[in-house]
Amino acid sequence: MKTTTPTAFKNAFEEDVHKGLTTYPKHLLSKYIYDEKGDKLFQQIMEMPEYYLTNCEFNILKKYATDICKSFSDEKRFDLIELGAGDGKKTKILLKELLRQNADFNYLPIDISQYVLNQLKASVNRELPKVSIKPQQGTYFKTLDYLAELSHRKKVILFLGSNIGNLLHENAIDFLRNIREAMNADDMLFMGFDQKKKPQQILDAYNDKTGITEAFNKNLLVRINREMQADFKPDTFLHWETYDPETGTAKSFLVSKEEQEVNIPVLNLKVQFDKWESIHTEISQKYDEKVVEWLAREAGLKIEARYSDESDCYRNYIFKRG
Ligand code: AVJ
Repeated sequence: MKTTTPTAFKNAFEEDVHKGLTTYPKHLLSKYIYDEKGDKLFQQIMEMPEYYLTNCEFNILKKYATDICKSFSDEKRFDLIELGAGDGKKTKILLKELLRQNADFNYLPIDISQYVLNQLKASVNRELPKVSIKPQQGTYFKTLDYLAELSHRKKVILFLGSNIGNLLHENAIDFLRNIREAMNADDMLFMGFDQKKKPQQILDAYNDKTGITEAFNKNLLVRINREMQADFKPDTFLHWETYDPETGTAKSFLVSKEEQEVNIPVLNLKVQFDKWESIHTEISQKYDEKVVEWLAREAGLKIEARYSDESDCYRNYIFKRG
């Protein structure tokens, strides 16, 4: 499978791609979908009728905004820290309500992408000029640690969109433990968890007929082509989605429709695909109450409040240190 062993990788992307395509079964990491094109495709996914997650969470925030924001501020000044804010469409519901309640807070969205942060800052300044927004560019943990040292205000940490679902349970627990370590007794963590539901509804959300999710998934190949001068032919791969109702795990794959060889010059690598061989690209975990309780317990967090939408498709939780 390997032609030669490269001496050094320029970055983690190269190293992870090399590793993922030279192990069996093959895999690529979903975090690399999100370049500028991937960000745009994800925005389109959030607009699709099949992708129920966005609407469910939007409805929960609308319905319970008063209550949620009261527990956030609790008469204290605080920092509202958002991990992976994206376009902030859902967060703005909370920002509006916090202004209405005259809460004293700074909004600190953290993102790896300066481009996303610039757009978010511009739109918050335009739509909600009274909000004091201070974007922080960087990775979640480095920035959280830095904020924990910098500010001695109460922290409310937002992690919306069921983004936790891209992590296997053991990684999710590590992630939550890291957040817990940056939290003081008064601090809060507010998160969204997509729930187990009718399997067909989940499959439809990740396999739309218009092919947006397919393009999103294949953006991994497109990005490797561009950044590593590779010659993947995205049309020779099939987008395939599975959902296991027992574990609650939705998985995305790219399946090679033919026997083929792909050349990745930057990695000095030629990759062979058998006909119908797969590349696993993403997991989107679905949860139930028992699993959320277990994750919280393992991470040293306690559930302070839970909110769900009318169809109980989705839940948001407030956690504190356990
Ligand atoms: C952004 C990780 C929450 O898994 O539902 C959407 C990404 N993948 N359609 C998800 C995604 C395919 C999404 N998250």
